[in-house]
Amino acid sequence: MGKIHKSEKDDEIEVECVSPARKVQTLFKISKNLNEFLPPENYLEILFEALKDLYHFDLLFLSDISDTPIVVVRSSEYSLSNQDLNSLLTKVLDPKWNSGKQFLYLTKKEASHKREFSKFGIKSLFAIKVSTILFPEYFFGFINFNNVFMPVKEDINFLHTLAHIINQSISYYELKSLFETSYDKLQVNVERIQRENEQRRELLKKVREQTKELQRRHIEMEEFVYTISHDLKAPIISIQGFVTALNEDFSKSLPKEAQYYLERIIKNTAQIESMIREVLEYSRIGRITQEKEKLDLKEIIDDIISPQIQKKNIKIGFKGKSLKIYAEKNRMLQLFGNLIGNSVKYMGDQPEPRIEVGTQKIDSKFATIFVKDNGIGIPEKFKDKVFNIFVRASNLENKDIEGTGIGLAHCKKIVETHGGQIWLESEEGKGTAIFLQLPLAI
Ligand SMILES: Nc1ncnc2c1ncn2[C@@H]1O[C@H](COP(=O)(O)OP(=O)(O)OP(=O)(O)O)[C@@H](O)[C@H]1O
Ligand SMILES: [Mg+2]
Repeated sequence: MGKIHKSEKDDEIEVECVSPARKVQTLFKISKNLNEFLPPENYLEILFEALKDLYHFDLLFLSDISDTPIVVVRSSEYSLSNQDLNSLLTKVLDPKWNSGKQFLYLTKKEASHKREFSKFGIKSLFAIKVSTILFPEYFFGFINFNNVFMPVKEDINFLHTLAHIINQSISYYELKSLFETSYDKLQVNVERIQRENEQRRELLKKVREQTKELQRRHIEMEEFVYTISHDLKAPIISIQGFVTALNEDFSKSLPKEAQYYLERIIKNTAQIESMIREVLEYSRIGRITQEKEKLDLKEIIDDIISPQIQKKNIKIGFKGKSLKIYAEKNRMLQLFGNLIGNSVKYMGDQPEPRIEVGTQKIDSKFATIFVKDNGIGIPEKFKDKVFNIFVRASNLENKDIEGTGIGLAHCKKIVETHGGQIWLESEEGKGTAIFLQLPLAI
């Protein structure tokens, strides 16, 4: 039921009877139309269409106060700009409305809003709260410029139900938007992750291809080195045989100078032969392998410490507990033989020569083993280079210590073919420590 004052002046009251059946019908129509996840700005036309025959409002609004209200006016003769309406609503509507005050009904006679209403030519304002749980609170209402809209209890009940429908619809719409935004964000993230994975896969593929290519070139290089040294071996041995024969059979009949040249040829040929032998040996490491076995580290070291070393008066010993490694026995003898051999060879004139072999750190798979001495040490600028083939340090100059400069290169290759690493610490004049990792026997 809605009572409408057609004109305040003559107080003529026209009673309009709206049957409950029509109201239910209207609610049904509205809820059906609002049930499509529409954005709130589309509601007002629907509400206007459904309500225009029930109530004689002049302006219909839906507002969340913070924003510009959505307005529908019945006729263009009532002009109230959105800005004016917003400032009016901000003044009269309180977003903190609680459940005790669920609608607002004001007429021009209300003292507090008299000026405001006169300014805009408003006769009455009715607003009802459409509170949503998640988002700013909406208000839905009518403004009358010509008549005074006077809602009765049934109207208020009806409008409350309508507010409830609007509220639900807005909530659904907002939840749906929230869900869609989150879903879109998720989708973007999923796509980004997929893209990154794809890039990672590409990169991995490239790295694998390049590693393969490098391995192929490395094998090719080793084969080349092996072939060259192998082919050089026969002519060198032949030269060695001829110069030795020449020396034995004819050196006495040669002048002194020619004898000297012959000696130089013999010495240099021997050096070339030894270098070729070592290069061939270097290329065999990792290519020609023996069965790996469980080996006691201390036993290997004991096998290496020969009577010659013992005779040299060097204090040599194994520090700490022994452990079992899993490796090729002959390569281990070669490895520790080279390292202990170097320590003996490069001891210098140390009055208290000492060599120590031991284990320093053990993780679950590898043992870190060291060979330390207090010999002549390695000059700083040679520390990185001595693991390369044919490199000998500068502090050997003028010292008559024989060597090819390949022992440590052998050691590096042996350790690496067993899956470990090798490095050194050294100080010239104080001593050298070589560290290496070898796999532990389980
Ligand atoms: N324990 C050490 N103390 C001092 N210098 C060392 C030690 N071990 C290696 N070096 C230096 O590193 C160089 C390379 O060692 P490496 O064992 O490869 O060759 P080499 O001993 O000269 O000859 P060989 O091929 O006969 O072993 C040596 O010439 C020496 O200058
Ligand atoms: Mg050596």
